[in-house]
Amino acid sequence: MSRSSPANYSISQRTVHWVMAALILFNLLFTEGIEQWNRVSKRGGELAASDAFSANIHAYVGIAILAFAALRLILRKAQGVPPEYADEPALARMAAKATHILLYLMFFLMPLSGIARYYFGVDTAGELHAEVFKVILWALIAVHVAGAAAQRFYFRTDSLKRMTSGV
Ligand code: HEM
Ligand code: HEM
Repeated sequence: MSRSSPANYSISQRTVHWVMAALILFNLLFTEGIEQWNRVSKRGGELAASDAFSANIHAYVGIAILAFAALRLILRKAQGVPPEYADEPALARMAAKATHILLYLMFFLMPLSGIARYYFGVDTAGELHAEVFKVILWALIAVHVAGAAAQRFYFRTDSLKRMTSGV
């Protein structure tokens, strides 16, 4: 339980949420350069300059995500977060909490496994990154967005507001 229970996520927390959401979707969707880098690093051949550039962007964006994740944890600790919706079914509250915890876990596992593959050549880390963690992350995002929609349209809470304009 955090020290304080503010009504909204702070402006910094909201900014970090949406910046991270954009960066994560960018890295999930635009993977041609990094995939090409991976192919060349495994099978040899020439890496086009544009692919090398995109692969580096993928790495830098991913490292930025890692830094934002750490910042986000510090902000949670320092500023607290709004309370759970006490009148919602326990199952819904547990699902929200579990999804958030697992998302945080992926904020670290995804970049760290990428770094292990890209900078240190650890193949198993690359396989986990590209085949396991990627799928888990997509699934968590789908559940999370469905949850946000359920809050808005089914439970009719102010959840979306406390992560956007504020209540
Ligand atoms: C949250 C941050 C990240 C996300 C969401 C992400 C996402 C992805 C995705 C979707 C792929 C393509 C997987 C496929 O083949 O379908 C990929 C591949 C890859 N990414 Fe990332 N990535 C992130 C961070 C990083 C970082 C920080 C690095 C390195 C510094 C990195 C290095 C790589 C490498 C080397 C591959 C190719 C791995 C392989 O196919 O074996 N990624 N990443
Ligand atoms: C359309 C896209 C998205 C919507 C509508 C959305 C909406 C929200 C809302 C309303 C909350 C606040 C929940 C509450 O009231 O306690 C929240 C929290 C959260 N969101 Fe999202 N989100 C989106 C995308 C993402 C993405 C892509 C990620 C990361 C992959 C993400 C990660 C999180 C996390 C970890 C929390 C927990 C609160 C925290 O500690 O920061 N969200 N989201």
